[in-house]
Amino acid sequence: MMSEHPSSKHRHSEHPLLAVVILAAGKGTRMKSDLPKVMHPLAGKPMISLLIDQVSAHLNPERIIVVTAPEQENLRDLVHPHHSVIQEKQLGTGDAARAALPALEGFEGNVLILLGDEPFLPLEAAAEMAVHDTPSVMAIIPPDPTGLGRIVMDENGQLIRIVEEKDCSAEDAEICICNGGNFCVPADMLGRWLNGIGNNNAQSEYYLTDIPELARAEGINFDVFTVPIDHVWGVNDRMQLAEHEKMFQQMLRDMHLMNGVAMQDPDSVYFHYDTVIGTSCNLEPNVYFGPGVKIGNNVEIKSFCHLEGASVADGSVIGPFARLRPGSDLGEGVKIGNFVEIKKSSIGAGSKINHLSYVGDCTMGEKVNFSAGAITVNYDGFQKYQTKIGANALIGSNANLVAPITVGDGAYIAAGSTVTKDIPGGALGIAREREKIKEEWASDFVKKNKTS
Ligand code: UD1
Ligand code: MG
Repeated sequence: MMSEHPSSKHRHSEHPLLAVVILAAGKGTRMKSDLPKVMHPLAGKPMISLLIDQVSAHLNPERIIVVTAPEQENLRDLVHPHHSVIQEKQLGTGDAARAALPALEGFEGNVLILLGDEPFLPLEAAAEMAVHDTPSVMAIIPPDPTGLGRIVMDENGQLIRIVEEKDCSAEDAEICICNGGNFCVPADMLGRWLNGIGNNNAQSEYYLTDIPELARAEGINFDVFTVPIDHVWGVNDRMQLAEHEKMFQQMLRDMHLMNGVAMQDPDSVYFHYDTVIGTSCNLEPNVYFGPGVKIGNNVEIKSFCHLEGASVADGSVIGPFARLRPGSDLGEGVKIGNFVEIKKSSIGAGSKINHLSYVGDCTMGEKVNFSAGAITVNYDGFQKYQTKIGANALIGSNANLVAPITVGDGAYIAAGSTVTKDIPGGALGIAREREKIKEEWASDFVKKNKTS
């Protein structure tokens, strides 16, 4: 992303220490959710964690302090081992920043204040602000300024004040440069200004956005770092959350395409932030990746597959319409076909489970043929039981393998069998009613019914 910096004359030759404060205690009323707003996930990762990751990787802060509400124990657990503080009452962003002051006691350096509901930080501008030795604010020029604070400047481009939308005059509302929400202030000035903020405004809140005006009264100007933005800014409601999800999915798709994953319809493929895919793989349209999926090289995933917690080795072919649930561990060259579900099972190299099967709690050797409709019967309503299948076994169509059970190497199970006893290697297990033929029975039956 681009940024303009107003001057370089204030720059330190050496970077000062940086502390990052992330405001996250807001009620998030507009989300209409019990989960703290900043914990809502994007591609499966809480947005505050995405922000913390970027800050840690690119800004190298000496400490990160997250401002939380008293009841947000889950948020404090999530951000641990980073420091969290409690804002007793949600009285506004200025009050929230004030709650971080005790955790900054004795800190000398810059304090970068970020908003936890802005998961994608413009890193270049943030990095420049972090080393700037006068106070600064990040301004954005978004496609639509609705809901954002406006940056009021004088004719020299000097920041006069920031006005929240609810306090805007008709003239202020026309301004298209908005408050990005991020400030960087040398620690020795911060407490003074935060303690000077009042709440005489439309929302009776203590606005962090009032600090530039307080500084100006002392003759200190905030420099403005401006970033053009081409998307919705900040997550305040579920529509904005969905917009952010869309952006993040786009980034992930681009990343996988650039890594050599082929996709015919990238927009229909959904990734989890941690999805790992090797090279020369092909993903057909409408594939969904949940958490913890690792795909090797030369893997083909056909349409309408749902994968989570699964690892798939090189050269395997999955789907269409397959479901790999957590604990699925597929060896090289495995074939999983349509309407097959695998759970907590390891499948040996070259095995085929091609049609309409359920395999759960199973260790399957190499080159097993698990025919259409065969399933493991792994659950008695209380406990799960293991199935072991040796290499080169052939499990006939519609067989039920009632676990716990072991099928030896190269054993066969006759189609339609419900097997409950172990089957030795090389043996045939057959467990079904012997077939009887009643000559002429069907034609007699039809004749009788037609005439009556
Ligand atoms: C804020 C800015 C607005 C800016 C916009 C950019 C203020 C007053 N307004 O508005 O100028 O354009 O962000 O996204 O700063 N929070 C607390 N405690 C509180 C209130 C909020 O920790 O008492 C936290 C929230 O959890 C959130 C962040 O501060 O992560 C921002 O609060 P939010 O209510 O979303 O502010 P906006 O209305 O978006
Ligand atoms: Mg917000």
